[in-house]
Amino acid sequence: TKLCVLISGNGSNLQAIIDAVQAGRLNAQITGVISNRPNAYGLERAREAGIEAVCLDHMEYDDRASYDEALKSQINAFGADCVVLAGFMRILTPEFVDSFTGKLVNIHPSLLPKYKGLNTHQRAIDNGDKEHGVSVHFVTPELDGGPVIIQSRVPVFEEDTPSDLAERVQEQERRIYPLVLSWFSAGRLSMRNNKAVLDEQEL
Ligand code: GRF
Repeated sequence: TKLCVLISGNGSNLQAIIDAVQAGRLNAQITGVISNRPNAYGLERAREAGIEAVCLDHMEYDDRASYDEALKSQINAFGADCVVLAGFMRILTPEFVDSFTGKLVNIHPSLLPKYKGLNTHQRAIDNGDKEHGVSVHFVTPELDGGPVIIQSRVPVFEEDTPSDLAERVQEQERRIYPLVLSWFSAGRLSMRNNKAVLDEQEL
């Protein structure tokens, strides 16, 4: 299974996926990494792992549509059975999303449908939530709205700062994203009628 991973920053999720492939826990090939930001540390992580990494700087495009066109051609040049958004901080056009329907996934640091959008850890703390977490979902045109594949919950402690909470959430991210991708690589995971379906497997 060919994976193309899109990033914007640190790339901790990308690193988890790279590590899983290298450890033989994920039977897939990362054909390329694309960042919309030139200074994304994730680009460095990719190169260190011998993976082709390019920056498509969104500042160099006049509008969202032309950026997404360039993104689509780069993805197709790498080859992708699944496009993996990993800390990718751009809103994609419906046309782009529709062209990768069922093979475009994202990880969002909240228990969706709670806290779509940004600053999810601060919001959970401000609301006095006792529980928070992370969701991996198929991407549909609705921002952070696609069918959820898996969620992982973490406790919120009284004295938590947003970064304490982010760290606890990211520990779970590193675990569940490679797991979801291993299901996809095994041909067990699909999106049908806007629902995520994990095919039953004889045990
Ligand atoms: C992570 O918290 C992830 O949930 C969100 O972006 C943050 C940074 O991701 N999507 P990464 O370290 O760049 O993978």
